[in-house]
Amino acid sequence: PLVPVSVLLKDAAAEGYAVGAFNCNNMEIVQAIVTAAEAEKAPVILQASQGAIKYAGVDYIAAMVRAAARRARVPVALHLDHGTSFDQVVCCLVAGFTSVMIDGSHLTLEQNIALTRQVVSVARPVGASVEAELGRIGGVEDDIAVDEREAFFTDPGEARYFVEQTGVDSLAVAIGTAHGRYKGRPQLDFARLARIREQVSVPLVLHGASGVPDDDLKEAIRLGVRKINIDTNIRESFVEAIRRRLAEDPREIDPRKILGPARDAAVETIREKMRVFGCSGKA
Ligand code: G3H
Ligand code: 13P
Ligand code: ZN
Ligand code: NA
Repeated sequence: PLVPVSVLLKDAAAEGYAVGAFNCNNMEIVQAIVTAAEAEKAPVILQASQGAIKYAGVDYIAAMVRAAARRARVPVALHLDHGTSFDQVVCCLVAGFTSVMIDGSHLTLEQNIALTRQVVSVARPVGASVEAELGRIGGVEDDIAVDEREAFFTDPGEARYFVEQTGVDSLAVAIGTAHGRYKGRPQLDFARLARIREQVSVPLVLHGASGVPDDDLKEAIRLGVRKINIDTNIRESFVEAIRRRLAEDPREIDPRKILGPARDAAVETIREKMRVFGCSGKA
């Protein structure tokens, strides 16, 4: 059965590791994530982005993840990634998601608080947990000048106020990570993360973690990150395997013989991340 993310993050906080949250949008990736979790004996979060919902639909994602979780010998949670509206949150809760993110990071502080509170009020009664975002986690393609970068980072004092006002279960922080592939090595503001941790007691979430060096991920975990989002690294290994397969045999027309190896490659990538996060063996 699907479990709320808050339950997984509570255990992670108690033992000082992070749970991997992996983006999925098709059957092969759903299977790869759950297969990796079972192989590592790790609790796991599958999450659906806006693009995933557009591509596969909420109902398909919920049905696939439920099918995978039913047989799994590890706890599995299903989470809405970067939820855009109250209506979308309700739609996902009705479909059986056990956790939702409401991303009001583009709003003013008070608007973000109001929207997040509204989401908490509807999620809490059905046992679902809520993640919110404060500060702005951009994409690598956003092209923000280096000296302007910190204007988008999470302010520790504001984080405390935000968590108190909203009652959220977890908080996504902007400390220098970005969605997608980094151009150089990402520069994470660990001092800021430590100050956020001092102000906020709920588990912290790190987005844009693909491409962040393992040592930096471990340092972030040491400083209170309990959920780590990975999408790009899965896409890379999945599609690289497809390219290899097609190069080996350009006349292959059986999708299973192309997507099967891609699924296997994704399993390996996800297992490696779980070992770095410290969640292996924790299920
Ligand atoms: O939200 C972050 C994802 O990595 C990007 O999502 O392209 O599937 O919408 P999407
Ligand atoms: P990456 O694509 O950089 O792994 O980021 C994923 C993410 O944060 C999804 O919310
Ligand atoms: Zn994200
Ligand atoms: Na990234």
